[in-house]
Amino acid sequence: MAETIYMDNAATSFPKPECVYQAIDDFNRNIGGNPGRGSNQQSLKAGTVLVEAREALARLFSIDDSNQIAFMSNITEALNVGLKGILKKGDHVITTSMEHNSVARPLFALASQDVEWTAVQCDGEGNLDPGEVAKAVRPNTRMICMMHASNLTGTIMPIEAVGQIAKEHDLLFMVDSAQTAGVLPIDVKRCNIDLLAFTGHKSLLGPQGTGGLYVKPGVSIKPLKEGGTGSLSEYLEHPQMMPDLLECGTHNTPGIAGLLAGIRFINQIGMESIRNYETKLMALLLDGMKAIPGLNVYGPRNPQKQTAVICFNFDEIDCGALSMMLDYEFGIITRSGTHCAPLAHKTIGTLELGACRISPGFFTSEEEVAKVIKALEMIAAKTK
Ligand code: ALA
Repeated sequence: MAETIYMDNAATSFPKPECVYQAIDDFNRNIGGNPGRGSNQQSLKAGTVLVEAREALARLFSIDDSNQIAFMSNITEALNVGLKGILKKGDHVITTSMEHNSVARPLFALASQDVEWTAVQCDGEGNLDPGEVAKAVRPNTRMICMMHASNLTGTIMPIEAVGQIAKEHDLLFMVDSAQTAGVLPIDVKRCNIDLLAFTGHKSLLGPQGTGGLYVKPGVSIKPLKEGGTGSLSEYLEHPQMMPDLLECGTHNTPGIAGLLAGIRFINQIGMESIRNYETKLMALLLDGMKAIPGLNVYGPRNPQKQTAVICFNFDEIDCGALSMMLDYEFGIITRSGTHCAPLAHKTIGTLELGACRISPGFFTSEEEVAKVIKALEMIAAKTK
């Protein structure tokens, strides 16, 4: 079989920069220590990793106080805390019809506690009209919660315009940055973001098991867990100050050391250069795929309007079989099925048929892109 071509960076970026592997290994072998637990030298060094990672994230997202960032095990946890730690019976939330289940399922579950939600309909390419969001505001609307870009089509959402609407209506604004943090600029102040959920293992180039939530000072939020924080340990009441309010138990410090290295790598290369490179790969892919008979591409089909994600299917081939064929016959790794985003599939019209997703990354080469196009051409020719 040919060498593997990894095209599933929207699920998790791979490979990671070498410095990320080194940082994780260095922490595990040479630092160890449990941050904030005692004042021994190893614990202090581990604590420094958390401080530096929080500060690197704060700089990336234009956050003034890095202590307002709580580390969590993944972005799904962060979104759950942001929704369930704030919303109460009688509240209304606005979201979009492109959301991932990490937002849609908590909202569905909250509906049984009398929290109402409206998913504003996006168009067939996944685009959101901010005017429709404004129209969905009700007297009891408390929050707008939405993604920055779709994991299915890559469609980039107008978060700055929606943030302005949130501000005008005095609503909380939570953004799911799973597909954008590390590759598109995010400025919590410019976009009026009150809560920013992020994952470490996609475009931030860190390992799985990292992520977190930024909470703007003054936003009242309850934790979903209580426990040891290493602070105010003499009291049974869980600390109320950030980040301890939303962090308890031992951190994934090796993972956070890797995340810090990932952010430093991005800063070194420059986020704009990374985005430009991915945009170039997307242009090549979209151009090549356009000419393949029987192949349908969904979403904006414009590299400037989407992240490095292409959603597609063939008229005549089951998307699961297609992904398997790409994997086992051509060594190309893709994701097929519903992508944990049934609302988005319904929006673009692929809920029944499903789709396959290709997502190149910073470590994808142009030669690999050419091989993917060739493989798709061969599959198309076989199905004639
Ligand atoms: N949310 C990730 C994806 O879209 C896992 O594949």
